[in-house]
Amino acid sequence: MGCGFFYSFVLLLSVFFNHSASQQEPNTDFFYVYSFFQKMSSPSSLFHAVSISTHVCSWRGVFCDSRQHYVTALVLSGFNLSGAIPDTTIGKLSNLQALDLSNNGITSLPSDFWSLSFLRVLNLSHNRVSGSLPSNIGNFGSLQTLDLSFNNFMGEIPASISSLQNLQILKLEGNGFGSSIPSGILNCGSLASLDLSSNKLNGTIPLGFGAALANLTTLNLAENGFHGRSVDFVGLRKIKILNVSGNLFEGSLVELFEGPSPLEVIDLSRNRFRGHFSQVQTVDNSKFDWLRLRYLDLSENQLSGEISPNLYHAQNLIHLNLASNRFSRQKFPQIGMLYRLQYLNLSRSSLTGHLPVYISQLGCLNILDLSGNHFDGHIPILGVENLEVFDVSRNNLSGEIPAAILRKLPWMERFNFSHNNLTLCASGPISQQLLQTSFIGLRNSCPIAANPNLLSRRSGKHREVVKLIGLALTLLIFCLLVVVLLILVITYRRKKTRMWAVKQKNSYKEEQNISGPFSFEADSTTWVADVKQATGVPVVIFEKPLLNFTFADLLSATSHFDRGTLLAEGRFGPVYRGFLAGGIHVAVKVLVHGSSMTDQEAAREFECLGRIKHPNLVPLIGYCLAGEQRIAIYEYMENGNLQNLLHDLPLGVQRTEDWSTDTWEEDDLNNNGIRTWRFRHKVALGAARALAFLHHGCSPPIIHRDVKASSVYLDSELEPRLSDFGLAKMFGDDVACEIARGSPGYVGPEFSQLGPVSPTVKSDVYAFGIVLFELLTGKRPLGDDYSDEEEEENLVSWVRGLMRKNQGLKAIDHKILGIGIDDQVESALKIGYLCTADLPSKRPSMHQIVGLLKDIEPSSYK
Ligand SMILES: *[C@@H]1O[C@H](CO)[C@@H](O)[C@H](O)[C@H]1NC(C)=O
Ligand SMILES: *[C@@H]1O[C@H](CO)[C@@H](O)[C@H](O)[C@H]1NC(C)=O
Ligand SMILES: *[C@@H]1O[C@H](CO)[C@@H](O)[C@H](O)[C@H]1NC(C)=O
Ligand SMILES: *[C@@H]1O[C@H](CO)[C@@H](O)[C@H](O)[C@H]1NC(C)=O
Ligand SMILES: *[C@@H]1O[C@H](CO)[C@@H](O)[C@H](O)[C@H]1NC(C)=O
Ligand SMILES: *[C@@H]1O[C@H](CO)[C@@H](O)[C@H](O)[C@H]1NC(C)=O
Ligand SMILES: *[C@@H]1O[C@H](CO)[C@@H](O)[C@H](O)[C@H]1NC(C)=O
Ligand SMILES: *[C@@H]1O[C@H](CO)[C@@H](O)[C@H](O)[C@H]1NC(C)=O
Ligand SMILES: *[C@@H]1O[C@H](CO)[C@@H](O)[C@H](O)[C@H]1NC(C)=O
Repeated sequence: MGCGFFYSFVLLLSVFFNHSASQQEPNTDFFYVYSFFQKMSSPSSLFHAVSISTHVCSWRGVFCDSRQHYVTALVLSGFNLSGAIPDTTIGKLSNLQALDLSNNGITSLPSDFWSLSFLRVLNLSHNRVSGSLPSNIGNFGSLQTLDLSFNNFMGEIPASISSLQNLQILKLEGNGFGSSIPSGILNCGSLASLDLSSNKLNGTIPLGFGAALANLTTLNLAENGFHGRSVDFVGLRKIKILNVSGNLFEGSLVELFEGPSPLEVIDLSRNRFRGHFSQVQTVDNSKFDWLRLRYLDLSENQLSGEISPNLYHAQNLIHLNLASNRFSRQKFPQIGMLYRLQYLNLSRSSLTGHLPVYISQLGCLNILDLSGNHFDGHIPILGVENLEVFDVSRNNLSGEIPAAILRKLPWMERFNFSHNNLTLCASGPISQQLLQTSFIGLRNSCPIAANPNLLSRRSGKHREVVKLIGLALTLLIFCLLVVVLLILVITYRRKKTRMWAVKQKNSYKEEQNISGPFSFEADSTTWVADVKQATGVPVVIFEKPLLNFTFADLLSATSHFDRGTLLAEGRFGPVYRGFLAGGIHVAVKVLVHGSSMTDQEAAREFECLGRIKHPNLVPLIGYCLAGEQRIAIYEYMENGNLQNLLHDLPLGVQRTEDWSTDTWEEDDLNNNGIRTWRFRHKVALGAARALAFLHHGCSPPIIHRDVKASSVYLDSELEPRLSDFGLAKMFGDDVACEIARGSPGYVGPEFSQLGPVSPTVKSDVYAFGIVLFELLTGKRPLGDDYSDEEEEENLVSWVRGLMRKNQGLKAIDHKILGIGIDDQVESALKIGYLCTADLPSKRPSMHQIVGLLKDIEPSSYK
């Protein structure tokens, strides 16, 4: 502000020198403004350092009428004006319409201030004006904006405020106003925004408030001592922001959620609202528009019963806080579809049972507080990318803390796992301080990964060494060690993390004998890695041959193949998620069904597969042969697979039909436009390109043998990538015929004959056709509801049946239909039709399919 002031006066200096006479002339506006500046500016300011010679109307912040007779506006926000405004200065500016003195150090207003009857805007916010607000404020009948916020006003809000009938904005927050709201305020029918928060107001809300102030869009009464009920707000039919946080409001919420209202922000926290929250839902014909709601804070009230299932409709909610109420014991509420949530606080809400897997879909979450409930079971995989605060303290959770969360902790602002039955399996030591604040009472009995107390044990070891060498060398070596350690710690910390100490990769190799055999349980399989010494079994990472990873690193990367890191269970076996040292984010696929290949053959096969690279293939980056188990290591795909995106709906949602009324947009973060034709086309084309490459770009051609929706992944750029190519071959043709053929629903009719049939490229084409149908119809290949009189049991015969009747469009997922794309969609159906021909020889090649799909490419990808 000082700078602005400085520049304004430098500007003044540079202009002409001839108006001094008029502004010194008493009883003119210019004289009043001049005196105002002279008396309010600090003695040290430039105002006093120079003789003011330019015309007042040319000063910054001063606005005059067109003939330069009167001053009509003073906008002097942050001009470093301080002290009491004297009489015979601005109080005499009889034509003043706007006065903004905000962000200064003004302590009192002059007695002649109240005659400014033309004033339309008065902003005195962020000053130090004290004392009561005189009733004379009622003289300002033209006032539209009155902002006295953040001063030291005290006493009552004068009843004369009723004269301010043009008032649209009234902001008195952050003062010491006491007593109750004068009922005169009900005359201010034009009020659109009223903020009385953070005062000492009390009493009840004037009767008829809602009806009288029906123009209000923003109402903030927070942090006062108001008594009231939600019924007080009935009638506020334009209200968008309602904040009564920190008062003594009572009664139920029913009225609030009953009528039609455009509420977007509701903050009722820290009051005494009570009653069953689920009552809110019983109003069946409720016109409340849940979709508008962005912010809902009901925390620290006395609400009881169940959490309203209607929340489920609030799909634009960003902030939800229901903490510290008196809800009855219940399961996690149905909020799996609130994908936009950034803040979720269900602390102390009597919640029981498991944490639902679908919270992993709330990928925007910054802050998640589930503390003080009765949750049991494991911590599921979370979308941790944006997580900054994570609190699950005081629950009954068990199992290991998922590795994905542990890796994220160094970048988080706050986290708390205390008072659970959790096991901490960090891959590096954790500072004592963290153990004592964020992991209170956890078990450290993790069998494989490094023990958190490693650091202290290491120093013990050093001491032994030191003893051996003898006293003479002690000091020297000790000093050296300290220096080296310090340098190590400092550089490492700088590079990687804020609070973790050095990652002790080698140390546990030395100190712990990790001996097998190991047995692991996934959800539907149990598998055994028959290795004697985990550190003795190498993990090959093709591009990083020098890293020398072993099976022990895989154990630590996946928290000992903990279920919490389980990504999926495919036909071949479970897939886990993990981070290898160096931040390599991987998906670890265990092929549990045994293989007919020898170790050498398997290694050669993996090496071959590792060399196959294409922008639409998920890269195989390494492998490990652990006893009988062949473990494939893939680059991790951030955005899951097509199966998840198309079909795996959050819990509580049975049918895709239920989703039809929503308003998701194309750029919805978590859905990535999967509901648009453009995106689905991109996925189809990407998968087709991958297959065309395997079939026609590799020699000998590679038959995928397991093309299906769950083999098509989406990487961080949302590029489709086909996975699992070549794996079926690992099992050979004799072992598990089923596996060699493909997944149910994706297998062509040629396989239903008796006798052995070898898969060909054309069986991949058939399976691709099914995936294309899935993309187009949004339905699963088998067992979905094909909504037709004819009881079709599978997707392909349903769609082909409709197409033969020339009713193909009936099968299309209506969400992706839109102006001008029906033709493209219909052409895509035809491609699917060709791919799924009964006779393999009638099916087109993947090359041809890529060409066909390119012909119907929607104009541009976003
Ligand atoms: C603002 O005024 C005070 C005296 O009231 C003076 O000490 C201070 O230096 C001024 N600040 C600037 C930036 O001009
Ligand atoms: C008053 O001035 C402050 C500071 O310049 C500004 O933030 C606020 O929006 C103004 N009040 C109104 C009602 O415009
Ligand atoms: C309301 O506030 C006024 C002044 O701040 C105080 O005198 C009065 O006792 C308060 N009334 C109640 C019921 O708290
Ligand atoms: C709301 O404002 C409009 C114009 O701004 C006015 O005509 C109407 O009377 C106001 N409503 C009430 C209840 O005063
Ligand atoms: C409600 O008002 C209080 C006090 O001004 C503020 O701290 C709080 O953030 C407001 N709530 C919302 C949702 O803006
Ligand atoms: C959750 O809400 C409770 C009660 O209002 C509050 O004490 C706590 O700080 C909140 N947690 C977070 C992480 O904001
Ligand atoms: C925690 O879970 C155990 C069983 O797993 C149960 O016996 C115990 O009562 C639970 N404790 C709480 C506080 O819910
Ligand atoms: C804690 O978890 C372990 C397994 O992780 C289990 O054996 C034990 O019973 C649990 N204790 C309680 C009190 O739930
Ligand atoms: C974690 O929660 C426990 C139990 O509520 C508490 O004592 C501890 O201070 C919390 N730690 C942090 C870092 O918030």
